[in-house]
This record gives sequence, structure tokens and C-alpha cells, in this order.
Amino acid sequence: MDRIHAVENMAYTILDEIGDEYEKIEAVSHLSSVARLSFLLASRRNVNPELAYIAGVLHDLYAFTHERKEHALHGSILALGILRSLNIFTEQEIDDVVSSIRHHSDKKRIHDPLSEVLKDADVLDHFLSDPFQSPSVKDYPRYRKLKKELSIALP
Ligand SMILES: [Fe+2]
Repeated sequence: MDRIHAVENMAYTILDEIGDEYEKIEAVSHLSSVARLSFLLASRRNVNPELAYIAGVLHDLYAFTHERKEHALHGSILALGILRSLNIFTEQEIDDVVSSIRHHSDKKRIHDPLSEVLKDADVLDHFLSDPFQSPSVKDYPRYRKLKKELSIALP
């Protein structure tokens, strides 16, 4: 099994804890979408696309299974445990993914390139899940930059 599928298997097994079917679908949809968008943005920006995909799969796992409050910090600790337990990643790779998850709610600041890929993929998925709604004020500066980078011709 490749590393992406090993992480997905573990993440989606954890999501099975969610009792409400609608919430579970929303969780799988957001995590898989952010993973794919992260892969795409990482490939364009010369960032490791495999690690970007994995960060996307794990980034909101805590928010969906526990609570949103401080989910970036708690989610990074959850991701650390998952990635270590799989025993297929180097400490540096784990550190990079865990840092990006820890930073991902801090959309106003600029962090390392992998963190920036994850934040932008998150913003892009929020937009794509409801494309006729204006992006939130918090996400708007990133959304504008992404529209330019990806030549998206929508308001
Ligand atoms: Fe997210």
C-alpha cells in the first residue's frame, strides 16, 4: 500500500466514529477535496505533493471528530500520533506535515511553503463548496491571490 492510501485508510477509519451520516460525508468530502487541491497547488509551487496531499487528509480530522476550538493545534498532535504509528515517514516529513496542520487556521500570516499550500487549498475548497457565495472577509486576501495564480474568472 502506498503512503497516501495508508494515511487515508487510517483517517477514514477514525472518521467512522462520526455517527451522523451527513456529517461524515461532509468530513470525507472536505478532507479529500483539500488533499487533492493541496496536491495540485504543491505540484505548481515545487512543494512535495505527496506530503501536501497527506496534510490535506489529516488537517481537519480533529475538528470533525472532536471540536473546532483550537483544532489546528489539537489536530497537529493527532496527526503526529497517526504518522508516527504508521512507521513509514521520516521525522523530517512528519515534522513538515504536523507544522502545516498546526499553522493552517492562521490564514492571515505567511508560514513555510507546505503550510501555505494547505491554507490556500482550504480556502479554495471553502470557495468551491459554495462558489456563488462571497468568500469570508478572513479568506478574501488569499482567495484573490489564488484567483490570479489559477486564472479563475469568477467574482
Ligand atoms: Fe479545512
